[in-house]
Amino acid sequence: MFKSQLTSAHFILLFAISPIYGDFDYMQLVLTWPATFCYPKGFCQRIPPKNFTIHGLWPDKERQRLQFCAKDYKYVNFEGDIKSSLDHHWIQLRFNKEVGLKYQPLWHDQYKKHGTCCSNLYDQTAYFLLAMRLKNKFDLLGTLRTNGITPGRRYTFQRIHGAIKTVTQMDPDLKCVEHIKGVLELNEIGICFTPNAESPYHCPQSHSCEKRGYTGILFR
Ligand SMILES: *[C@@H]1O[C@H](CO)[C@@H](O)[C@H](O)[C@H]1NC(C)=O
Repeated sequence: MFKSQLTSAHFILLFAISPIYGDFDYMQLVLTWPATFCYPKGFCQRIPPKNFTIHGLWPDKERQRLQFCAKDYKYVNFEGDIKSSLDHHWIQLRFNKEVGLKYQPLWHDQYKKHGTCCSNLYDQTAYFLLAMRLKNKFDLLGTLRTNGITPGRRYTFQRIHGAIKTVTQMDPDLKCVEHIKGVLELNEIGICFTPNAESPYHCPQSHSCEKRGYTGILFR
């Protein structure tokens, strides 16, 4: 009796805490603003492009962060056209071009950490192609410009958030860093999609751009 109770309690506990991998509520495409990511000079080994670039595509659950979902996974280095496209849209800023394309450290890490969490729907190639397709759905830099937001100045959170939302329809997640004390700057923009990537989805908010006492966010 005691033993079977223990077993069922055990079972419930395990069931409640173990993530059901491959099962996710939404995916977030995280786009980096290179000028901020690469600050200060010397942090990056590539010339930062003057446009958003992919950081990653992160399948997640509303109440639980999904990461490293498969112990057994294989990442096969990309070659040819897809490698060149990734180098353009998903540039590995911290590595020089030769090392980056040979070892593909950022792509491999992102696949291991996030791509494995949606491998039930997207294999390695499909995952990377999807990230690039979603990036090209929106021209965030152009959208910001259309709304009077150009690099070199500070803008309110509402203004940047609102501008992005005009094209995504759903809340983006703005991510800020403070490279210079007292100056909050826009580092990344996350835009979210349903698991089949067909529809926009509301991104959970990380609130890193809404710190008290800051009136403006620098768009470097
Ligand atoms: C920036 O990237 C977007 C999305 O990939 C693209 O549509 C746009 O043309 C690019 N803008 C510039 C100035 O390169």
